[in-house]
Amino acid sequence: MALSCRKRADPRLGKYRVVYNINMASEPVCVEDFEPYLKASVPDTVWQYFRSGADGEQTLRDNPLAFQRYRLRPRCLRDVSQRDTSTSILGHRLSFPVGVSPTACHASVHRDGEVATAKGVSNAGSAMILSMWSNRSLEDVAASVHPDTPLLLQINLIRNEGRLKAVIRRAEAAGFKALVVTVDQPVVGNKLHLKGGKRDLDPTYPQLLLPGEGTFTLEKALALVKETESLTWKDILRLRGITSLPLVLKGILTAEDAREAVKHGAAGILVSNHGGRQLDGVPATIDVLAEIVDAVRGSNVEVYLDSGVRKGTDVLKALALGARAVFVGRPAIWGLAYDGEKGVEKVLGILKEEFSRAMALCGCSSLSDIKPDLIARMPYNNSDVEL
Ligand SMILES: Cc1cc2nc3c(=O)[nH]c(=O)nc-3n(C[C@H](O)[C@H](O)[C@H](O)COP(=O)(O)O)c2cc1C
Repeated sequence: MALSCRKRADPRLGKYRVVYNINMASEPVCVEDFEPYLKASVPDTVWQYFRSGADGEQTLRDNPLAFQRYRLRPRCLRDVSQRDTSTSILGHRLSFPVGVSPTACHASVHRDGEVATAKGVSNAGSAMILSMWSNRSLEDVAASVHPDTPLLLQINLIRNEGRLKAVIRRAEAAGFKALVVTVDQPVVGNKLHLKGGKRDLDPTYPQLLLPGEGTFTLEKALALVKETESLTWKDILRLRGITSLPLVLKGILTAEDAREAVKHGAAGILVSNHGGRQLDGVPATIDVLAEIVDAVRGSNVEVYLDSGVRKGTDVLKALALGARAVFVGRPAIWGLAYDGEKGVEKVLGILKEEFSRAMALCGCSSLSDIKPDLIARMPYNNSDVEL
């Protein structure tokens, strides 16, 4: 990417700023090409907030690399002229098996925040998990998408029952299809690069406001997360008593917890290491996917995966190992920084095109053709790719 300096619209501020280091003449051709646009368009603290992982960032680095340790076994001479990339999650259709994971504070990247993200997702025929820590309200997000776009709401199981019930009732009324409960965050991961503070992040969290409450400070938000330290599986049962929305548990990394999820009535499991932002040193999600798929076999629980998905072949590998769909976190943010709603749509469009091409090259014309025998080897903890 050539060095250049030019005036570029700042999507956060709605005005121009000088941008260095990006040759705007070259169109992004793969998902990772979008990342520099985020770095160039936000203050360093915001860039670090979105980029960073926990501690030494071993898991953050391993997430995308791990996919490269799996090789594909393509089948030839199959008619792949008509390919169907569509699937469903919890009975709701997606045009291809990729959705957007919950990430907080989109207004720190684009002035329309999660509304822009949701429009891009909707135009791409994808699904979105809205973060409880979003800067735009779930009602505004719901009003901005096509009626058939699956929206799910991520929640942290805060102890304050009034606040929790209020957000759940709002999600039900706005037509959200499921609650995605984050279970890997009893405490916030140790992000060394954020020790300088989060002062440039947009601190509005409309999901957490009770009627009549004007603002919600970052300190108040962190105090709420602190309340989650004492949560247990009983709280999943408590939640099932509050809502009939399906529950997806996000952040499960072991067969043991997957079996608990089945026992406690989960409708789905999102295998996730939070994009390397919680416990550093846990495996890449693709390395634990098979054990989790195995653990829930025979139940109706759907298994999804996020963390490090960057290419169409990553999607194909995850599906071959048993995921029903995958989700991306940072890539949506990169697209948002690139060109708001259109940028998000473009990132997802590239993933869809790459996935469809990978299906063709592997001899698959529908998702039911994607089976474990497409994977050449499963080297758990193999160290042939440098960390
Ligand atoms: C900046 C940022 C904010 C995030 N905020 C949340 C959140 O509010 N709730 C949550 O459950 N996960 C959150 N995550 C984790 C993502 O949902 C997702 O698991 C992760 O980004 C996937 O990895 P990827 O970015 O490599 O695709 C966040 C991740 C990032 C990078």
